[in-house]
Amino acid sequence: MRLAIFGATGRMGLAIARLAHAAPDLEIVGGICSDQDPGVGKDIGELAGFGQLGVVTTPDIASGLLGADVVIDFSNAAAVTGLLAVAARQKVAVVSGTTNIDDTVKKALDRTAQSVPVMWAPNMSLGVQVLAELVEQAVKKLGLAYDVEITEIHHRKKVDSPSGTAKRLADAARNARPELREIHGRSGDVGARTDEEMAVYGLRGGDVIGDHTVYLFGQGERLELTHRASNRDLFANGALVAARFLAGKPAKRYTFADVLG
Ligand SMILES: NC(=O)c1ccc[n+]([C@@H]2O[C@H](COP(=O)([O-])OP(=O)(O)OC[C@H]3O[C@@H](n4cnc5c(N)ncnc54)[C@H](OP(=O)(O)O)[C@@H]3O)[C@@H](O)[C@H]2O)c1
Repeated sequence: MRLAIFGATGRMGLAIARLAHAAPDLEIVGGICSDQDPGVGKDIGELAGFGQLGVVTTPDIASGLLGADVVIDFSNAAAVTGLLAVAARQKVAVVSGTTNIDDTVKKALDRTAQSVPVMWAPNMSLGVQVLAELVEQAVKKLGLAYDVEITEIHHRKKVDSPSGTAKRLADAARNARPELREIHGRSGDVGARTDEEMAVYGLRGGDVIGDHTVYLFGQGERLELTHRASNRDLFANGALVAARFLAGKPAKRYTFADVLG
């Protein structure tokens, strides 16, 4: 399978490049970064630390996608729509893990899925997929007597908050209790907690790859459901599994649950 990487010089892009290079069934044919990037025009293998690959990064999406079956995107929400338009035109399947996307990007994902297979997921780990299922089940079983709150911790360079995974877990809680209302801070004379509020807090610092905890606070007990990512390769591997799944599939919007079967 021939692979292009969008956001090729980023933390995730480089992890994808390293793992794809080591996989006998994958060939990296393109890498795209912004024109401001210090890594633009450089060899992807050199950037990822495994030696010369013979493929250099480019800011030009059309040439970066040339010959690719699938593009894997871990970039910036503002850049995704531009990628999708070219991927649809050049018939390249899309795996996207970029978070903090708005309704315009969500609609563009749907539109692109009319031309090529598309899978977007805010977290590409099996553990988080299972955590979301457990959260829904726990919130449903414990019911109204339990207060739901969510914390997420990420490295100091993360630019969006709350994390896409925290939003995903909030959605899982709301599947069981649709009245839950997300808030993102408490400060000053806010009064006692109401039943329907659900705070989602982001902590930032150091090199934390991603921790998420969903709390269910009851009277006399509390349940904490936690996922901790200790290696970025976890998400990169998930994206490669998704890319292999999408290659050759009919045009459609797929979920990570589809990928995991
Ligand atoms: N779904 C998951 O499992 C998962 C896991 C981890 C991270 N993420 C998400 O993936 C995204 C990237 O994370 P990261 O940690 O890899 O961030 P990062 O290190 O900041 O990398 C982002 C990359 O995207 C590039 N980029 C920005 N604008 C671009 C454009 N217009 N065209 C092409 N490339 C562009 C950046 O290049 P410049 O430096 O030139 O701007 C950089 O190479 C974030 O949204 C993050 O939340 C998702």
